[in-house]
Amino acid sequence: MQVAVVTGGSSGIGQGAAFELAKRGTGVILTYNGNPAGGLETADRIEKDGGTAVALPLDVGRSDTFAEFKAKVEQALAERWDRTSFDFLVNNAGIGQHPVPFEETTEELFDQMLRIHLKGPYFLTQTLLPLLADGGAIVNTSSSSALDNTRPEPGYSVYASMKGAQLVLTRYLAKEFSSRGIRVNAVAPGVTRTRLGDDAFAKYPELIPPLAARTALGRIGEPDDIGKVIAFLLSPDAAWLTAQTIEATGGYDL
Ligand SMILES: NC(=O)c1ccc[n+]([C@@H]2O[C@H](COP(=O)([O-])OP(=O)(O)OC[C@H]3O[C@@H](n4cnc5c(N)ncnc54)[C@H](OP(=O)(O)O)[C@@H]3O)[C@@H](O)[C@H]2O)c1
Repeated sequence: MQVAVVTGGSSGIGQGAAFELAKRGTGVILTYNGNPAGGLETADRIEKDGGTAVALPLDVGRSDTFAEFKAKVEQALAERWDRTSFDFLVNNAGIGQHPVPFEETTEELFDQMLRIHLKGPYFLTQTLLPLLADGGAIVNTSSSSALDNTRPEPGYSVYASMKGAQLVLTRYLAKEFSSRGIRVNAVAPGVTRTRLGDDAFAKYPELIPPLAARTALGRIGEPDDIGKVIAFLLSPDAAWLTAQTIEATGGYDL
């Protein structure tokens, strides 16, 4: 059985990706950070539907813990799948930010965003790379905020800069890993109904209609919309895709 490691699988897009991968017969190691109940619920639902899943704790902002995480992944692979390697890595974990004007951006916010969205995925990939099988694939969850065809929203310079850096990293890793047949792509979701931003869409549902109105397909995204794109990018149907960024926004601001 093929196995995927999905960071940030306790809710939202990572959870959606975990479900979609499991539906396609892939075993899933998913991670949670502050929401262990969500991580365990994702794994339980997959198992109840006949799949195989393990939930592990991980703070992607703490690269000093990655060696220990790798050991736990190795243990899970051996115990659940009788494997010493896995096939797919989804660097998805992330946080939103409240809009902050450039002049008021603190180094603390900058460093937090850097650790979670760039340093974390960078060194987590480096740490797990020896376990990633040749011919495997990686998807990085970036954001449409980093795309040239998205109108910049004031206040998101840090978040969008880190998400842009993920796109550059995607291309460079695609080149370096190509000798092992490992494909690296990114998905750039638009507005998606998740728990991002302290569960803002659940707390302030009035935010949704204006965003849906700016979306060509007339609604905001759901986690499984993006989960399906991630599962596709990891699948044999995407065997000829590498170094690509797929915008998944339903036509936001089209
Ligand atoms: N929703 C959108 O509109 C949107 C648009 C573009 C891009 N994205 C990106 O999509 C990705 C997933 O976010 P989401 O929208 O699905 O939001 P979400 O529902 O809040 O999920 C975020 C996931 O990341 C995990 N996470 C957060 N901080 C972490 C940390 N320090 N270490 C490890 N895991 C951490 C969370 O785990 P815990 O809850 O267990 O802490 C959760 O599983 C993020 O990279 C986000 O930037 C989202």
